[in-house]
Amino acid sequence: MAFDEAGAGPAVVLLHGFPFNRSMWRQQIEVLRANFRVITPDLRGHGESGLVSEPATMEEMARDVAALLDELRIDHATLGGLSMGGYVTLAFYRLFPERVSALVLADTRAQADSEDGKRAREENAQRALQQGMEPIADAMLPKLLSSNTLSQRPDLSASVRAMILGTRPEGAAAALRGMALRRDQTDLLPSISVPTLVLVGTEDNLTPVEDARLIRDRVRGSRLALIDGAAHLSNLERPDEFNSSLVEFLNDYKDGGEQNA
Ligand code: MLT
Repeated sequence: MAFDEAGAGPAVVLLHGFPFNRSMWRQQIEVLRANFRVITPDLRGHGESGLVSEPATMEEMARDVAALLDELRIDHATLGGLSMGGYVTLAFYRLFPERVSALVLADTRAQADSEDGKRAREENAQRALQQGMEPIADAMLPKLLSSNTLSQRPDLSASVRAMILGTRPEGAAAALRGMALRRDQTDLLPSISVPTLVLVGTEDNLTPVEDARLIRDRVRGSRLALIDGAAHLSNLERPDEFNSSLVEFLNDYKDGGEQNA
């Protein structure tokens, strides 16, 4: 399992979305490394992680993260993830709640896929295996970034596209099938007893604000940060706003501050 590690202090693990890789957290690492030990793995089938299973379930990915923490001798950490990384984060909490000191759930949801959603996953898995990642990038890009960003920041659009094209079709197909199999985690939410930050771009149509509100409403004491003008990849589109919500949250709970209701 490939990963980056930076900084020193309480451990913060950040899990990327689909079909991306750990490079998406670069701007968060730059800020967090001053006070935290930040670990960003490539989930199985993605980036430079060699592991591929078919399907790649959220639980398997969560177990990979637990094995990495074992290897790094990290007993417990703040665990955060964006989108698919959030699905893995919730699966990790269900499996290993004692290893989680706080949760960060960005542009993600607790619900399982609908039947239509599952069918679309399988079609995309087959498309990736037969035609490669180009059609996946073409279909996803307009949903990942806001229309403003797409028209005004060709550099960011190009780097997100390059990240998608860099994902192996076998890894993408396995993750799509794993996401289709994922369980509904809404019943887990009321049992979450660690500080939780939920972030979402106000223009996220893939995992919209109402999905973030559902998590906020059910996780006792959690707080919600709306990232204005961002779509699905809120950490890349609005890094300053994303980072300030994240740092404020991490500092508050590290210092024993009360959570906002
Ligand atoms: C992601 O960004 O990880 C994906 O959009 C998640 C999904 O397809 O459900």
